[in-house]
Order: sequence, then C-alpha cells, then structure tokens
Amino acid sequence: MAIIFDEQNKTFTIHTEHSTYQMQIDPYGVLLHLYYGRKTKGCMDYLLQKQDRGFSGNLYDAGNDRTYSLDVLPQEFPTWGTGDYRSTALIVRGQDGTTACDLRYRGYRILSGKYGLSGLPAVYGAEKEAQTLEVVLEDGRTGIQVTLLYGVLPKYDVITRSAQIINTKENIIYLEKAASACLDFVTGKYDVISFYGRHAMERNYQRIPVSHGNYVIGSRRGTSSHQYSPFLILTEEGTTEDAGACYAMSFVYSGGFQAEVEKDQFGQNRMLMGLQPEQFSYPLNTGEVFVIPETVMTYSRNGLAELSQNLHRCFRNNLCRGPHKEKVRPILINSWEASYFDFDGESILKLAEEAKELGIEMLVLDDGWFGKRRDDNRALGDWQVNEEKLKCSLGELSAKIHAMGLKFGLWVEPEMVSEDSDLYRAHPDWLIGAPDRFESHSRHQHVLDFSRPEVVDFIYDSISKVIEESSISYIKWDMNRYMSEPFSRGASAADQGKTMHKYILGVYELYTRLTERFPDILFESCASGGARFDPGMLYFAPQTWTSDDTDAAEREKIQYGTSFVYPIVSMGSHVSAVPNHQLHRTTPLSTRANVAYFGTFGYELDLNLLSDEEIEEVKAQVEFMKEHRDLIQVEGDFYRILSPFEGNDTAWMVVSRDKKQAVAGYYERLNKVNASWMRLRFKGLDEDQLYKVKWEDKCLKAYGNELMYAGIPVDRDYCNKTNGDFHSVLYTIEAED
Ligand code: GLA
Repeated sequence: MAIIFDEQNKTFTIHTEHSTYQMQIDPYGVLLHLYYGRKTKGCMDYLLQKQDRGFSGNLYDAGNDRTYSLDVLPQEFPTWGTGDYRSTALIVRGQDGTTACDLRYRGYRILSGKYGLSGLPAVYGAEKEAQTLEVVLEDGRTGIQVTLLYGVLPKYDVITRSAQIINTKENIIYLEKAASACLDFVTGKYDVISFYGRHAMERNYQRIPVSHGNYVIGSRRGTSSHQYSPFLILTEEGTTEDAGACYAMSFVYSGGFQAEVEKDQFGQNRMLMGLQPEQFSYPLNTGEVFVIPETVMTYSRNGLAELSQNLHRCFRNNLCRGPHKEKVRPILINSWEASYFDFDGESILKLAEEAKELGIEMLVLDDGWFGKRRDDNRALGDWQVNEEKLKCSLGELSAKIHAMGLKFGLWVEPEMVSEDSDLYRAHPDWLIGAPDRFESHSRHQHVLDFSRPEVVDFIYDSISKVIEESSISYIKWDMNRYMSEPFSRGASAADQGKTMHKYILGVYELYTRLTERFPDILFESCASGGARFDPGMLYFAPQTWTSDDTDAAEREKIQYGTSFVYPIVSMGSHVSAVPNHQLHRTTPLSTRANVAYFGTFGYELDLNLLSDEEIEEVKAQVEFMKEHRDLIQVEGDFYRILSPFEGNDTAWMVVSRDKKQAVAGYYERLNKVNASWMRLRFKGLDEDQLYKVKWEDKCLKAYGNELMYAGIPVDRDYCNKTNGDFHSVLYTIEAED
C-alpha cells in the first residue's frame, strides 16, 4: 500500500520506492505537512515544534495558545488571510470583497489508480501501478471546498498534486491565485535550480543559494515560455549530479505559471508551483469546479541524475501517449532551414530524393505550403494548400514522397491568424485583443481566441481536411507568438479573468480531437523553438522542437539544460548547415551529428548542397543513429557528465537499463594548444563488467569500475590534429561476454 491513513495519529503517509511523504490533520482540522524525503516508517509528528513567536498571530480556535500560529507551522495547502503571511497556494475573493479563507479537514478517500483531470493533461497510472489520495478541506463560512489530489507512482518515486476548488454556496467567488503544490521545509540549507532563457537560447541552468526573501520565476506570456521553464529543483547544499538530496516540481501546463521559493523569518523554506496569478481572476459560480493543473514532484537522495531519470521515466511511460511513445523516432529532413519559404513541389521532391539516398526516413514540409504564405507576413489561418506553388495537390505530393519510400510530415500553426488572411477578413473578432485598441503585432501575426469553442471547431475542421487529403505521418504544431492584450471578445467583462486559462484549455481540446481522430500521427510541438517545452505539451505530442538555435555548440547547452526535466527522446534535434543560420558559426559536421544524436535526430539543410565527402559522412551518421536509437531514445538512462555551464567541455551519455550498452558524447568548445590532460569518467556502468570502448578508429577494454572511477583519457592528439574549434568525440561502449 503506497498510501496509508493512520486513524489514531490522523496522518496520511505516501510511500514511493525510496521516499516518504507525510501530513497530519491537527486537532483544529488544519492539514499540516510533516515530512518529505528519504523513506521512513512511523508517525513523524514529533517533528512539529510550537513556540510563541512574537506577533505571529494565532488561530482563533487556539484561544490563548500563543504557540499555535499558521505563520510558522508547515502547511500542506496554505491559504491567504488567516495569519500565514508567507507566499500562499490559494487566494479567494468573495463577492463581498473578503479574502480570508480558512480550510479545515472534512474527509478523505484512497483510490486505486491515478486520478485524471478533466480537460487537462496529467500523468496517468493504472490500478496496479498507482494510487490516489483525495483530502477534502472546507471553509465553512464561504463554502469553498477544496479537494487536494495526490497521485503516487511508487516505481518512479513520483508524487503528483492537483486540487479541485468547488463553490458550494450561493455567492460568486473569484480565484485570484491557485497553486497545486506547496512544500514546506522547516530546517535546512538549500540551493534553487531553475532554467532561464530567451528565443533561440532556452533553458540555461542557474543554481543559487536560497536566501531570505522570495525567489519567483514564471511566465505572463500565454505560453510556458522561452524565458523560464515551469520547473524548479530544491537541493540540499552540496548536492551534486551523483550524491545528495534534491526535490523537483514540474508543472503540467502550457500557459502562464509561477514558481516560488521563499525563505522566511525563521529560515524555513517554502516551495510553490501553480498558475500565474497576475492575469488570473477566475469567477466560480455556485456548484462550479475549478481544477488546478498538476504538479509532478520527485525526490532523490542520490543527486540530480537520479532526479532527472525519475522524471524521464515517468514522462516517457506515464505522461506521453499514443503509439509513438515507446518507439524510435523517424530520421527526418525538414525543409525550413533547407529553403525557408523558397520552394516549390519540384524542389521538395528533389530534397526527398536526396534524403532517400542518404537513408533518411521522412520528409517534413515546414512553413509556406498554404494560402498566400510567401513570407511570414501573411496567410496564417488560411489552411488551404497552395497548389500553384506545389504544382500539385498535397495528396499528390505526399503520394510521390511515399512512392520513394519516405514518410511525409507537415507544419501547421493552428492557433494563429495573420491580418492579411481570408480568415481575418471573415472573422476579425476571432483574435485575442482588447476592443478599441490596436493589437500588438508579433511576427505580423495574432493569436486566435481559442477560449471560444467556435474558433476551435473551425480550425479543427480546416486542419482535419488538410490531413485527410494527404497521407501524413507527422505534424509539427507551431505557436509563434506570445499573447498580448489578453481579452476575449466572446466573453463578458466578468469572465475576462478566465481568458488566458480558457485559451490553453482550447488548445488542449484541439489537441485531444486531432490526436483522437488521427491516432497514428506523430505530433511534435513547437513554439518559436522551445517556448512551450512543458509536460502539458508532452501529454499530446511526445516530442518538442527544442530550440530555433540549431548551432551545435549552443545546442550542447540547450539540450543539457532541457535534460534536467525532459527525456532525451522528447528533444527535437537536427543537423543544420554551416555557417549556422542563427550564429553564423561553423562547427564540424561530426559535432553537429554528435549533439543531435541525443534527441529525435534529423537534418535541416539543403542536402543537395552536400559535397561527396559530406554525403558519405551523412550516410554513416544515419546508419549510426539507426543502430543506436533504440538505446538512446527508448531503452537508456541519461547521465550528465560535464556541464557546458561550468567550462569549456560538455559530456553526457546514455546507458541501457541492463548496463550492457552505452553511447557517450564529449564536446570541446574552443580548442587549446598544449592543453592539460583530461580524463572522462563515465557513469551508470556495471562496476564488474568488462567493456569494449570504441571511438574513431580506436578501441580500449576496461572494467566498469575503471571507466567510472579513473575514467579514460580524452584524446587530445585527435583534437589537435583537427582544425579549429568545436571538436567532439563519440564513444560506444559495449559489454564483453
Ligand atoms: C518557428 C519554428 C521553426 C519554423 C518556423 C516556420 O520559428 O520554431 O522551426 O517552423 O517557425 O515559420
């Protein structure tokens, strides 16, 4: 039993394979948090300490007991207005303007299987692998009822949290802040790790000590954003990749979010994850329910590698869905950086022919195939095939590509409309924007109001028609601007505080309908690269375009940062041309592939421009990936070895679950003259197993313990013989019988 209710002590205990989470209903009916960490046994309420903390107010029911203060006690789901002045999970405003919310325990249920959330993505788990705990709390005065939901998937050391808020009384109430997870740490010194970025440079690693005050990240942009990831790690001081305690929170949502860490007056730390409160004021009428999107939590006592692996396994197996989630991904050629808008049917067929020669398996036709889309100023929303440009129908084009033995994929951007489009001319009120204002442009496009069902219906029909007319195996679903002037012309003034959330629900609705109608299509989500790389998207699309920056050296950082949360197989990664189109940097073809192997793998360049030598190299790369993608994408666990955020070198590896096979990549940014010796220490191998390590034309036999504890010398000789910077070395490691 993963979830236990102890009637006598009034504790709820949740066990995973290696962790324990415990809370207690105290004598006043307040739900207090007792513990989250390494596995324990028994009731831990002896941890609670009470003391008169001058001027920290006391609960009314506590009478003259000045030691009972919500401002100090560790809480499970703190609310605003009743004496806890720390950052809070829930703020509710009543019709009369009151904001106090005092939640007390009412009941619980333990269910087998993991709860699901209506209209929202969530981790799933069958009866044998997961359990659910529901704890019902209520504010008797306002009639606000909160059902806290806990899901436990013991084998991944994952606990999920969500909450349902119901208005049980006659008045309207407004939710002003809603977080699904709160963790209070009464003692300890911590660092917080978060990921910041910008377009074409997403998910940079930042680790800072938690200090007094509030550390807050989030997105107000309508997407989970390039700027911050909906993810936080709290580590005990000194935790490394391989040792030490750490906790993660990952928000299963694709819109605005807020993640916080607060260190309070007594050095206690609170970690929160939830919806962005600034654009949120959600009215709830009598009987209405609001579901707070889910937060996935995991704990590791063995450092950050294990923390990431817990999430990778959980997301791969119990978040991603559909027939592709456990399959290797097709090696593709994408037309975007090959020709941008400058293509026609013939040039696409030529690209496909060359791709076939090289062993590539799928051609993806990116932006520019519809309406009058000759550049990025127009035609979004006009999802009619431009047959003049293609010189045939999409059905005919895809049939020709299929006849070559390749699959066919297509780019769409369903949530957008250009001002210069037939859709805009027909429905100018369908875009998000405030009346009597000029809506801000971004890439000359506007966001369609997906909070309106008629808009979602229309786009569903037009995209379905395109898919049905041709044979499509893959869809790249893009979203290339942030939301501004967030106002729905389809909603009343009172309902405007719902708009940004309802927009995301509309996106999920369209994803649900398209993935159900076309279950065999592999979807890849994208938002100007990685502005919507989040677990919410992975629920519908098992892979995401990681970044618009395809430069290999930059990708080392982007993919390294992304790997803290998301599985390698979910990261869209392509080999592109040099000089690179974003940075104008030239990196060796080998390095471009050595980075892209650790992802979905594909090409995004004009293959017809490759030299004979490059053609042979690409053929070998495609062969290599076909041979190893089962290990990299389906089978293996990912380990980070050297961080690009700490120095000139990056290294990582994937090891099969049975520890018989591994592939490792080492990347040096700038070349050095007379460099110091360096040894690369592999990870995750079997100590006593003899392995054969191969790289370039070299080979070495050594035991797992030697390879992990002493490492192998990085071949500087090889580096110095190759011109310039950005060398890399790819190692394959196989167990000897
Ligand atoms: C975004 C995507 C790119 C490409 C273009 C097309 O920037 O991230 O990969 O699809 O749009 O307009």
